[in-house]
Amino acid sequence: MQVYMDNAATSKQKPEEVFKAIESFFKKINCNPGRGGYGLSLDAGRWVMETRELIGKFFNLKQASQVVFTPNITVALNIALKGLLQRGDHVLISGVEHNAVVRPLTALKKYRGIEVSVIPTSPQGHIESDDARKLIKPNTKMIVCTHASNVMGTLLPIEELGRIAAEHELYFIVDAAQTAGVLPLDFEKLHASVLTFTGHKHLLGPMGIGGFCVKEDVARHMLPLYEGGTGSISDKEEQPDFLPDKFESGTLNTLGIVGLGGAVKYLLQKDLSEVRNRELELTQKLLTGLKQFPNVTVYGPQDEKLQTGTIALNVEGVDNAELCFVLDEQFGIMTRPGLHCAPLAHRTMGTFPEGVLRLSLGHYTTEEEIDYVLESMEKILAVI
Ligand SMILES: Cc1ncc(COP(=O)(O)O)c(C=O)c1O
Repeated sequence: MQVYMDNAATSKQKPEEVFKAIESFFKKINCNPGRGGYGLSLDAGRWVMETRELIGKFFNLKQASQVVFTPNITVALNIALKGLLQRGDHVLISGVEHNAVVRPLTALKKYRGIEVSVIPTSPQGHIESDDARKLIKPNTKMIVCTHASNVMGTLLPIEELGRIAAEHELYFIVDAAQTAGVLPLDFEKLHASVLTFTGHKHLLGPMGIGGFCVKEDVARHMLPLYEGGTGSISDKEEQPDFLPDKFESGTLNTLGIVGLGGAVKYLLQKDLSEVRNRELELTQKLLTGLKQFPNVTVYGPQDEKLQTGTIALNVEGVDNAELCFVLDEQFGIMTRPGLHCAPLAHRTMGTFPEGVLRLSLGHYTTEEEIDYVLESMEKILAVI
């Protein structure tokens, strides 16, 4: 039996709609959108537009042009952070941010003299929004927060942080890498300036495609990270200042966009509250089973409603990389050990530098697989 428990890294299984869309586009069209004066290039542009519209619908945007495609969320976050922050600005982040946020900010500290404050975050990943309020000072410009920890699955209070950002006229950047596709995200209600997403995790698209949704007035103040050909206003040497072209230079990952379109079409037909309830049920089953083993420590929130399908654990006296190896080699269970590109989160959790073993459920995880993981863990724990 093979059990995929690494959905926080990427979702391995995809809906048929993804394959069908990619195959159809690749075989029948495969021309460069916006780069030719013939029907097939125009058709390619229509396919890209369709995905933009589907994503606009998925995140409840006013205009599809507010969706900008990037290769992944890391690039999306880099554009938002580097495009909005100026010398001397102060930024608030949670204590469980991924390196996709921490590393660009570390570079900006060095090169642009920005200041970063970490909102006090408990080892379980909780923050009190009042603590964020207390850190705001005259040069504070932005709050950046992940919707859920990619290590232990804790959901963060992005709605409250969004309200605080709005009250204080701060930019609010949301990293929805771990939740888009499972939890409803309404761009209009979130008070987000920029909502970043990656296509290949719970959104079920292929790897190499992501993007962001941006408020039009925020986009006006945001500088692009790179400039180049957009297929539009080619008589000008200056970058277009309209969306999405301002941020989409160079040939797009059209196959990725088309595949993501297939995935979002599939997700739009689903009731996300059912998806979430199923995830909660299976996650609770796994957590309850794991917590019964005496030498297993499970990290993360106490309140089950604040838990995504991502679980972090350690077994006393066992290296989590070795445990990962045994689970894979002997039981066919795929997990991820170590630090998960999130050293800040591990410092907050008290698990730096050894890290944890991460098991992450996804759309296609079954109850049978959860039973199998628990039986396998029992067998491993019996011999160590
Ligand atoms: C919370 C979070 N942010 C950012 C990323 C980076 O995603 P990508 O590699 O798709 O850019 C990840 C991926 O693991 C993540 O979990």
